[in-house]
Amino acid sequence: MYPERPAGIAYGGDYNPEQWPREVLEEDVALMREAGVNLVTLGLFSWALMEPEEGRFAFGWLDEIIDRLHANGVAVDLGTPTAAPPAWFVARHPDVLPVTREGVRIGFGGRQSACSSAPAFREATARLVRALGEHYRGHPAVVMWHVHNEYGAPLGECYCEHSVAAWRAWLRQKYRDISALNDAWGTTFWGQTYTDWAEIDAPRANHTTVNPAQRLDYARFSDGQHREHYALQRDILRELTPGLPVTTNFAGTVNCKSTDLWQWARELDVIANDHYLQAERPDNHIDLAMSADLARSVAGGRPWMLMEHSAGAVNWQPRNLAKRPGEMRRNSLAHVARGSDSVLFFQFRASRFGAEKFHSGMVPHAGTGSEQWREIVRLGADLRKLAGLRGSRVRAEVALVWDWESYWALELDWRPSVDLTFRERMDAFYEALWREHVTVDFVHPSADISGYRVVVAPSSYLLTEASAKNLHRYVEAGGHLLVSYFSGIVDEHDTIHPGAHPGALRELLGLSIEEFHPLREHETVTLTTGDPARVWSERVRPAGAVTVEGFADGPDAGHPALTRHDLGAGSAWYLATAPVTGLRDLLARVLDHAGVSRPRGLPDTLELVRRGGHVFLINHGDRPVTAEGVSGVSVFDGVRHDGPVTVPAGAVTVLLETPRP
Ligand code: GLA
Repeated sequence: MYPERPAGIAYGGDYNPEQWPREVLEEDVALMREAGVNLVTLGLFSWALMEPEEGRFAFGWLDEIIDRLHANGVAVDLGTPTAAPPAWFVARHPDVLPVTREGVRIGFGGRQSACSSAPAFREATARLVRALGEHYRGHPAVVMWHVHNEYGAPLGECYCEHSVAAWRAWLRQKYRDISALNDAWGTTFWGQTYTDWAEIDAPRANHTTVNPAQRLDYARFSDGQHREHYALQRDILRELTPGLPVTTNFAGTVNCKSTDLWQWARELDVIANDHYLQAERPDNHIDLAMSADLARSVAGGRPWMLMEHSAGAVNWQPRNLAKRPGEMRRNSLAHVARGSDSVLFFQFRASRFGAEKFHSGMVPHAGTGSEQWREIVRLGADLRKLAGLRGSRVRAEVALVWDWESYWALELDWRPSVDLTFRERMDAFYEALWREHVTVDFVHPSADISGYRVVVAPSSYLLTEASAKNLHRYVEAGGHLLVSYFSGIVDEHDTIHPGAHPGALRELLGLSIEEFHPLREHETVTLTTGDPARVWSERVRPAGAVTVEGFADGPDAGHPALTRHDLGAGSAWYLATAPVTGLRDLLARVLDHAGVSRPRGLPDTLELVRRGGHVFLINHGDRPVTAEGVSGVSVFDGVRHDGPVTVPAGAVTVLLETPRP
């Protein structure tokens, strides 16, 4: 369920007028009109103002703001401010303050300062949300609910007494019988056998490493506690305002390590994502694209909302580079190209005080005489021209397997190499596909993947037997699968699948692994292509697979590095190392084998994405780029292009694709 209003692409952001004198509201609504702002998020951190003392609710100040916005055509995404419980509440219930894995109870003065499992917090949440819902039920300005803020960031796991009590109840429900838990956790190792649920603690900091299956379950449990806290609010809001969508904003899909967004997606009416550039990374627009594609994928392909990004610099990175002219526009339009029906910012007006005063806003400290404000106004006008895109889809022929459980499990302690990290391989494969101009979806390994020509599994360390069977069926039916090393190794309890690695995928890949040979830091080996590779080498023994490329030197010289197993109507490829420069070429071979169409001969500074009959050409480079094979009418200036289209340096061209007359 997507919010019915505003029509077209929503434009605006978090708005915190409570930080400003009343007259600034008048100036702000005028500026919103100038920029075409049609949606703002209110109240996200305003619990202390909404409930100044226990049980006394004060919404008058907010009524006035909402009414002014409404009178000016700005709709409201109303926040439930549970990410900022008030000082009086925390003072009365100090037991709600979360405890870190190291046993430190955090203090008041930041935000996210209550544990999702704490009974007093849940009770106070329910009371407040009911009061808020009752007060704003039927208000014409309120078009959706925005619960909490960025669950799991930074508070992923809590180790307080309430968490431990809830954890034991969770385990009991999951395993029923303590011997089932002992089996699942492999507690005969290091003599950890439990005889009673009360003996089980959270996997606290330890002078050695803690049982990995216990940690994996704690990650699942902790994420589930946040979801319960969300669902508590959502259910109250659904009861009071059945027509309004309810969401919560993700702390950047690709950065949300502690939140399993496949699970979260089932609980949300609309997916809302926050994305911030890694300011110092030159190609940070690739991370942006990945975050957007993952948002669209967890939304099941439906349009999603870019709930936050920044107009300029953020304030929380080591060096907070301002966006260069044109960069914000490229960023915003890239999100829209990849399925967002909104362009929202943190925040409308930059704060003068508090922790985020050096964070940019749509209205910067420099005011409206600034280049940034002019860009904001121009972007608002551009987005109005893209209104027809609303509700349209993005199609992808290639999917990347992304599973948070595998992410969690892989990055527990004591793996064969510290260089085995989930994001490193994901980023590498995503980037290679991005540079090949291939639009990708992300999929859970158990999902229906039959519609994709190619599925890539860059980092599927944890793979259940059921998921492995799903991949097997996909290939047999004609799909083409590429698996990267250290995949299919363990099951859902971090227990190694029986027999030689990769237990879950041996048959599908037509090979087994006799020994891992992790490489030293900075060490490389050479492939038979002549390209260097790093991090990993291993002794692959084909059993049905053919060798496509091998290791030319290193511990596995003369043995396979890239294999292909033809199975049924499809093929299963395996890559046993991390090519330094050659990944894109190896991938291209798989794409060609599978017949994946993509534009050829374009520089990889040009982002080309199709959505709803439009083609977006986003030039991230500092030279003009000419694209062949696209034609249509430019949405921003109405010019028709039938030959090659030249996109100036740093610019964005969007064509409504229409055949030549
Ligand atoms: C997050 C939060 C916002 C704000 C921004 C700053 O995304 O949700 O409240 O702190 O970061 O970049």
